[in-house]
Amino acid sequence: MDGSVLDFAQVRAQFPILQLRENGQPLVYLDNGATSQKPQMVIDTIERYYREQNANVHRGVYGLSERATELYEGARETSRQFLNARSTKEIVFVRGTTEAINLVAHSWGRANLQAGDEVIVTEMEHHSNIVPWQLLRDQMGIRLTVLRMNNRGEVCLNALKGLVSEKTKLLAITHMSNALGTINPVKEMVEIARSVGAKILVDGAQATPHMRVDVQDLDCDFYALSGHKMYGPTGIGVLYAKEALLEAMPPYQGGGDMIYSVTFEKTEYNVLPYKFEAGTPNIAGAIGLAAAMRFMVSIGLERIAAYEAGLLSYATERLKQIDGVRIIGEAEHKGGVVSFILDGAHPHDLATLMDQDGIAVRASHHCAMPVMQHFNVPATVRASFGVYNNRDDIDRLVAAIEEAKEMLL
Ligand SMILES: Cc1ncc(COP(=O)(O)O)c(C=O)c1O
Repeated sequence: MDGSVLDFAQVRAQFPILQLRENGQPLVYLDNGATSQKPQMVIDTIERYYREQNANVHRGVYGLSERATELYEGARETSRQFLNARSTKEIVFVRGTTEAINLVAHSWGRANLQAGDEVIVTEMEHHSNIVPWQLLRDQMGIRLTVLRMNNRGEVCLNALKGLVSEKTKLLAITHMSNALGTINPVKEMVEIARSVGAKILVDGAQATPHMRVDVQDLDCDFYALSGHKMYGPTGIGVLYAKEALLEAMPPYQGGGDMIYSVTFEKTEYNVLPYKFEAGTPNIAGAIGLAAAMRFMVSIGLERIAAYEAGLLSYATERLKQIDGVRIIGEAEHKGGVVSFILDGAHPHDLATLMDQDGIAVRASHHCAMPVMQHFNVPATVRASFGVYNNRDDIDRLVAAIEEAKEMLL
C-alpha cells in the first residue's frame, strides 16, 4: 500500500457496516472518537473464537483450553509489540481506558499518595481522567491541580514548569484530546514531571487509533487505551505500566486468577500481569483487539496518521468556508477531530438534521465538560475521522451543514 486514495478505498471496503444505508442514505460515519467501526477481520476473529476456540484460560489441561490460553497470551504479546513495551508483564488487560485509569488511581494512588500530595491534570481531560482523582482528593485529601490551556486548545510547557513542585506526585494527561483533537507534547511533559520525581500517566484512548505509540520512547509510567476506539471490540483495553511499578502495587480487585494460593489466613498473589486480572477475562475481546492491532499495523501507522492528517486539513478548510461555523480547538498539533459550532443553532439540532442525511456526528460535551466551560459553549458538533473516511464523507458533511443552516436559521 502506498497511501493512495485507491488503497484507502480498499481499506474502507473491509468495513461491512459502511455498506449500509441510514435514513435512506449511504452511511457517513464520523463519530470515531466515540467508537470506531470494525473491519471484517476483527469480526471474523471473534466469530471464529466463539465457534471453534472457546474455553476458559489458564485453567484447563485439555487442548481447547490450552489453545484459548495461547490465543489470549498471544494477544498480550501483540499488544506488547504494538506499544513497544519491554515485557508482557507490563500489559494488563482491562475493560478500557476508564478502568485502566481507575486501576492506577485506586491501586498505585492509594498506596503511594498522601494528604497534600498533588496530581496535575490538563484542562482538556476526559471525565475519566478527572473523576478518579477527585475521588482520591475527597477520600485522601490529595490536591488536584489543573494545567490550563490557551484558546487554541494547547497547554504551555512553561506553565507546567511553573506548576510542578516536590509535592507533585503524578502528571495525568491525555495524549490526544477527544473534544479538540489537540495532540499534547507528551515527551516534553514527561521530562518536566521527571524533574520533580513525579510519575506520568498518559490517557491514550484517542491517540492509539491514529498514530504510532512507543511507551519506551515516551518514557511514561502508565499508558491506557481502549480497544473499541481502534477498530477492536468493546469491553477490552490495555493498561501498560512499568514492571517495577506494577510489582510494587497492590491488587486492584480480588478473585480467581489473580492469586497463587489462598487460605482463610493468607493469600499469595499471582505474578505479573495476572495479579491485576481478577476473574475470567474478556478472552474474545483480547483476541479481537489483537486482530485490530494487526489490521492497523498492516496498513501502517505512519500511513494512517498521514492519511488522516490530509482529511483533517481538508475538513478544516471546507468548514471554515461556511459562514457562521466556528471551529473549537485549533492547536498546531492535532489529530483527526474537528469540533465546531454553528452560530444560532444548537449542536443537537444540527446533529439531528445531519442524521436525516445519513451522517453520524456527535453533538455533546464529549465527556469533557471543562473544555466546554473554557470555550463557553454548552456543546459542540464533532466530526472525528477513521481510516475509512474520505473526502466524499467530508463533502457530504459540509452539504448537510449548509442544508441544516437553511432550515434552522
Ligand atoms: C480521551 C479519552 N479518554 C478516556 C475515554 C474513556 O474511554 P472508555 O469509555 O473506552 O473507557 C475516552 C472515551 O471517549 C476518551 O476520548
